[in-house]
Amino acid sequence: MENQKVIFTIFGGTGDLTYYKLIPAFYQLFLGGRILDDMTIIVLGRKNKDSASYREEVKEVLMKKVSNYNENVFVAFSSKLHYYEMNFEKAEEYEGLNTFIDSKDCHNRIFYYATAPTFFPFISEQLKDKKLLDVKGYARAVFEKPFGYDLESAEKINATVSKIFGEDHIFRIDHYLGKEMIQNINTVRFSNQIFSAIWNKDSIDNIQITVKEKDGVKDRGGYYDKAGALRDMVQNHLIQILALVAMEPPKNFNNNSAKEEKVKVIQNLSIQSELESHTNLIFGQYEGYRDEVKVDPDSNTETFVAMKCFVNSKRWEGVPFYLKTGKALDESIAKIVIEFKTDGSSTPTNTEKIPNLLVIKIQPEEGVYIRINTKEPRSESKLMSVNLSYCQSCDIFYKSPDAYERLLLDILNGDTAMFTGWEEVKSAWELISEVVKKCPDKSKYLDTYSKGSDGPISSHDMLKRDGRHWWRVDDMNNNFE
Ligand code: BG6
Repeated sequence: MENQKVIFTIFGGTGDLTYYKLIPAFYQLFLGGRILDDMTIIVLGRKNKDSASYREEVKEVLMKKVSNYNENVFVAFSSKLHYYEMNFEKAEEYEGLNTFIDSKDCHNRIFYYATAPTFFPFISEQLKDKKLLDVKGYARAVFEKPFGYDLESAEKINATVSKIFGEDHIFRIDHYLGKEMIQNINTVRFSNQIFSAIWNKDSIDNIQITVKEKDGVKDRGGYYDKAGALRDMVQNHLIQILALVAMEPPKNFNNNSAKEEKVKVIQNLSIQSELESHTNLIFGQYEGYRDEVKVDPDSNTETFVAMKCFVNSKRWEGVPFYLKTGKALDESIAKIVIEFKTDGSSTPTNTEKIPNLLVIKIQPEEGVYIRINTKEPRSESKLMSVNLSYCQSCDIFYKSPDAYERLLLDILNGDTAMFTGWEEVKSAWELISEVVKKCPDKSKYLDTYSKGSDGPISSHDMLKRDGRHWWRVDDMNNNFE
């Protein structure tokens, strides 16, 4: 571990992300002895409170959220936690912050921007001007997603922050990269000859990446209504997953070569947006979305996206990548389904061949599932498909830590491998901007769907036209005839 004596300052200390993700993740790291005693966390907020009252609030959250809550551990942990009242939009308040941080006598500083991206440049400039970055140790910046609102705003933000911190000290968070099964994609793919040898257009028919959520927008209507599913989920999480699945083998997994390979995928990604015929890019909005708090009553923001993309490379020529994500759906699930071709293999039976599937289950269950064909017992000519399944929590009784725990540890250790590089972010925004440009008036293409459904019918039609269907977990638990 690198030198852990560090001051971790969080802008947006009274936001949900800090209360429900960052602090619980720090608590778990502290409980597990993975962060040392000499770490200080300073949370900044505009609200009038002090460290004691902030700690009380945090305690309540932890008691509810953390199953292994321990009072003694909390007392030790909370002594590291300080509340500092300030309005980070006011330049004149940064000198006071510097004095406060200086009083903690520590030369390594990490600044976590849990704020809207519009504030990233201003905060960074103030940190520089008011000399908060003039330290003997390191100064790192962590930017929550979204990094910008579109290509133009992301470029503007990046121009400022990269000049101030330098790419090596910038950590752009995509919390999906901290999830166990996302980190497992490379291992499953590259460490198994049975997959690595056939990971291409000759053997793979199509790839489906699905991230569905049961919850609606809850109390995030203000942010979400400006973002929509395309910016909130596709630009980052889904494109990152796709890039990991589709990239060429990187030279080295521990440095930036995986990022370079991912960038190539994103740059070669095309969205089959035959918008006029509304076939390969589906936008949906759940019924009742317009009544959500802070949502425009005439909003045309999409809460569901399904799309068909191609990676223009020799490996993936002609292989569709189907992406699907949405809120207020029938289930919360994230998975990658790789459907293999059935042609090319012959069968001693007369029955139709059933495609082999490799499924990487990201959440809620974490695991890997493979479906293969066998002969149905007692029958001479019938195929039966069976599951070979690995479930992490049931087979090895391991429940993965929250993504933020891993990512915070990486930040403390100065490891940027699991964070998105500027070129990845930029290429993803280029792609999204292209879609947005092609579709200036979403109202024309917005299908409504009922809450708790599987999304608009049009997303099923998209695959039906290709002679395919979305694979569901229920399907996978059954034997196919
Ligand atoms: C966030 C999005 O990045 O990811 C949210 O802003 C979404 O809208 C969330 O709900 C999903 O993350 P997870 O880890 O709960 O699947």
